[in-house]
Amino acid sequence: MTTATPCRSRAAAALVGLLLAAAAAPFGFGAGAAAAQDPAALEGDAERGAALFEDYTCYGCHGYTGETGRGPRLNPPRLRQAQFIGYLRNPPNPRQMPPYRQAEVSDQKLADIYAFLESLPSASPDAEDIPVLREILRETR
Ligand code: HEC
Repeated sequence: MTTATPCRSRAAAALVGLLLAAAAAPFGFGAGAAAAQDPAALEGDAERGAALFEDYTCYGCHGYTGETGRGPRLNPPRLRQAQFIGYLRNPPNPRQMPPYRQAEVSDQKLADIYAFLESLPSASPDAEDIPVLREILRETR
């Protein structure tokens, strides 16, 4: 912070927050919500998840980065971890998206896959890449 009074900088920070939310909305915002995990969420290992994403052939329908293929985008994750696991156990259209039962793949392994998807770079733009936000960020520094 430079010479801004605490009050002014707080107002500026709130403004930046609002603008970030508004700017993110049209780009399929949801990563933020998905990233805020339930306290009961399992801790996933993204590196193990990357291998599991291949072992269980998820990539075949969702692409190696969860962004391509005939299945929907998985990056950034739209569902929270518990919903994600629930969906895989019991997908609404099992002839399109195969179910992955507990006996085949544990909750922990699905949590690892989820962590891998969360770790992938998202296609959403950074605030720094949006000119008006970049300007505001400069001014508040
Ligand atoms: C045979 C192709 C296929 C494979 C293999 C597959 N999926 Fe899918 N997946 C789909 C399709 C198609 C849908 C969309 C189904 C629908 O709309 O009802 C889907 C939907 C999903 C969704 C819901 C996404 C959303 O935003 O609603 C998740 C999560 C998901 N898949 C994760 C996985 C994971 C993780 C794996 C590997 C363990 C996997 N899928 C393997 C085809 C596949």
